[in-house]
Amino acid sequence: MRSLLIVLIFSTFFATLETRILHRPRDFRCGRLIVFGDSLSDDGVEAEGESHGFLRNCNGKVWPEYVNAMLECDRYVNYAYSGAKSGIGNFYFDSFSGIQWQINQFLSNNKFLSDDPLVILQTGGTIDFFGGDTNSTEVVENIQQTIQNITQTMSSGTLVILSLLDVSNSPGVQAAEDSEILQERLGHLISETNRQLHHIVLDSDLGTRRLNPFLRVRLIDINTVALAAMQSLNTTEPFTHHSPDLIPQAIYKYAYHDLWNPSTIVHYHIAKEIVRNLQQF
Ligand SMILES: *[C@@H]1O[C@H](CO)[C@@H](O)[C@H](O)[C@H]1NC(C)=O
Ligand SMILES: *[C@@H]1O[C@H](CO)[C@@H](O)[C@H](O)[C@H]1NC(C)=O
Ligand SMILES: *[C@@H]1O[C@H](CO)[C@@H](O)[C@H](O)[C@H]1NC(C)=O
Repeated sequence: MRSLLIVLIFSTFFATLETRILHRPRDFRCGRLIVFGDSLSDDGVEAEGESHGFLRNCNGKVWPEYVNAMLECDRYVNYAYSGAKSGIGNFYFDSFSGIQWQINQFLSNNKFLSDDPLVILQTGGTIDFFGGDTNSTEVVENIQQTIQNITQTMSSGTLVILSLLDVSNSPGVQAAEDSEILQERLGHLISETNRQLHHIVLDSDLGTRRLNPFLRVRLIDINTVALAAMQSLNTTEPFTHHSPDLIPQAIYKYAYHDLWNPSTIVHYHIAKEIVRNLQQF
């Protein structure tokens, strides 16, 4: 009886060990990480190093920084600018900082990307919709053009494209005048853009993945993971410490850093999802 028990314990132990080995994530070797994006990806202005942008819209690290740390990349280059639109311009001005401007800027200094880079494209578009675009046509065209221009210069490596984050439930939208109309309009435009993005990247004939067999091309939906991360958090108002009865734990209970942008906790979960996806076989 006793030996049977020991055998049982041992076989359970080895069975667990075996599943662990079989499910061990593939190592993802990250040489150079290159990020393009808008307010969601901007990590602020660094005194030195290869980070561009205007400011950090977060109470801690943003997702590119978490990804860089998790994958232990050799180099980290972040071109994201707050307010960037999907084309050349910004929410506040037209001349620069948009995703296509970032790409052109980057490509003019890097004619061919042959060092097996990890390029993560947060496409932009949400800010175009805040700026008044009433349909997704222009944003979708911009994204398509952007992807085409990047893949033309990448001869190896990994291209990760993130879906647009649905901000239609953010405190900023909830607080807006006619918030229900705005919420519905934004939700519709973002999901329509994501549907088209799926087509652009994964279409079996003309999709980015099909047309670039020598690249690893991934499309990652960040909405499911962001929604799950926010589920147990307060989403109605951003965190503030301007409160007479604040308790120390409160900072961990808020989904938003400001009216539009998620807190670092949500960024962490987005980064984990990206890394998990890259480590899949
Ligand atoms: C894409 O690249 C071409 C050729 O380098 C350039 O002329 C064009 O302006 C780029 N398009 C965008 C949208 O950046
Ligand atoms: C989308 O909006 C643009 C102007 O913003 C307009 O010219 C175009 O006709 C619209 N397209 C559709 C399909 O409604
Ligand atoms: C979220 O936080 C605000 C401000 O602290 C508070 O007034 C509100 O009741 C909270 N909402 C939920 C659903 O807990």
